[in-house]
Amino acid sequence: MDKIVVEGGNRLVGSIPVSGAKNAALPILAASILSSGPSTFKNVPMLQDVATMAKLLRQLGGEVDGKHTMVVHPPHGKKLKLEAPYELVKTMRASILVLGPLVARFGRARVSQPGGCAIGTRPIDQHLKGLAAMGAKVHLDHGYVEVECKRLRGATIVLDMPTVTGCENLMMAATLAKGRTVLENAAREPEVEDLALMLNKMGARVQGAGTAIITIDGVDELHAVEHTIIADRIEAGTFAIAAAVTRGDVLLEGAQAEHMDAIMAKLRGAGATVTVESGGVRVRGGGDLRAVDITTQPHPGFPTDMQAQFMVMATQAKGESMIKETIFENRFMHVPELCRMGAEIHVDGRVAVIRGQKKLAGAAVMATDLRASASLVIAGMIASGKTEVLRVYHLDRGYEAIEKKLRGVGAKIKRVRG
Ligand code: UD1
Repeated sequence: MDKIVVEGGNRLVGSIPVSGAKNAALPILAASILSSGPSTFKNVPMLQDVATMAKLLRQLGGEVDGKHTMVVHPPHGKKLKLEAPYELVKTMRASILVLGPLVARFGRARVSQPGGCAIGTRPIDQHLKGLAAMGAKVHLDHGYVEVECKRLRGATIVLDMPTVTGCENLMMAATLAKGRTVLENAAREPEVEDLALMLNKMGARVQGAGTAIITIDGVDELHAVEHTIIADRIEAGTFAIAAAVTRGDVLLEGAQAEHMDAIMAKLRGAGATVTVESGGVRVRGGGDLRAVDITTQPHPGFPTDMQAQFMVMATQAKGESMIKETIFENRFMHVPELCRMGAEIHVDGRVAVIRGQKKLAGAAVMATDLRASASLVIAGMIASGKTEVLRVYHLDRGYEAIEKKLRGVGAKIKRVRG
């Protein structure tokens, strides 16, 4: 298996192009199912998760061509198959995003139930509750969810929590329903907004995306679109931390500052200089970093997908930082690995306390999720000696050419094929 080898000590200087957002690309690719014509998507990040979604769309009977610009012919005709199999869903939970579009367009779908994952149990009860409220029959059968409804009808759905993919699934389902659907306590993530923008280009009538109440007036059919995916705020945030901790100076080319308020506020609080420029966001690290406390929250709060990376920064800051993870129950798996590199972090339930100004030393490390793996790469860039990050497939799920991008700004990092 491949590994990433990092040698610490270099300042990062220069600019890094930010790719399209994984979490926008996945629902948008799934939404292509809602129309009958071929849609074109630009700025699609080349990631393992995107490849998995393309594979799933092909399995359903669609055609997917291209890389950063992707053309998707939605499933149709004799090849149409309304099932997302376990083999694919187990590798990517976001496969559940085809459920809403399939039921809305074809009246039926069978999708393997995503199990728990490394960061928590992650149920899909809200997705199913919403579809049931829209008139669908929902059965659980041998590890699969089967959902059926000739035509969904609009409903008012109050989500128990602002689930991102849950909201996206229901929003997509509601576009072709009869009547008005209102999603209350909706997720406000920029990726939900990007999906709504794309759906409206297809002829949908979605209002309020980006707020806690989304209203969708169902239409009879949707048409093909061309859409450019927004920049990945989490990828940008990850490189921002790398710039800050290496006392570097990096322009995150194409980063959309309007999606990064919470991340930029905490970076500034920690002493980094963050400026919004015409080409993106510039991050400079200089003097001593200061401790900051963080509580992960749904957007516009601080994103859970940036928690592990900020923890690495906290190991270098002056003072003691506290990080509280409120979204997922088991998202501190990077802690033991960071401690093996010399960090001092104490975890009690959902709270981690990090002692700052610790010298890190390179080691062989691995993580069981994407963002935790990214945090280990950052740790490697400030550690003495060599760090080997194993299980690189986690990184490849969500970061496009990470070693190439970091090498471009001066990091000593390479992939060793194995
Ligand atoms: C999405 C993102 C992921 C990010 C997460 C939180 C995608 C493809 N993935 O994941 O990168 O870490 O948002 O920002 O966009 N929950 C339920 N029942 C449900 C649905 C969710 O209890 O039916 C709970 C989850 O267990 C979790 C919380 O709600 O505790 C938020 O999860 P959710 O927003 O659904 O995360 P995902 O959409 O899976």
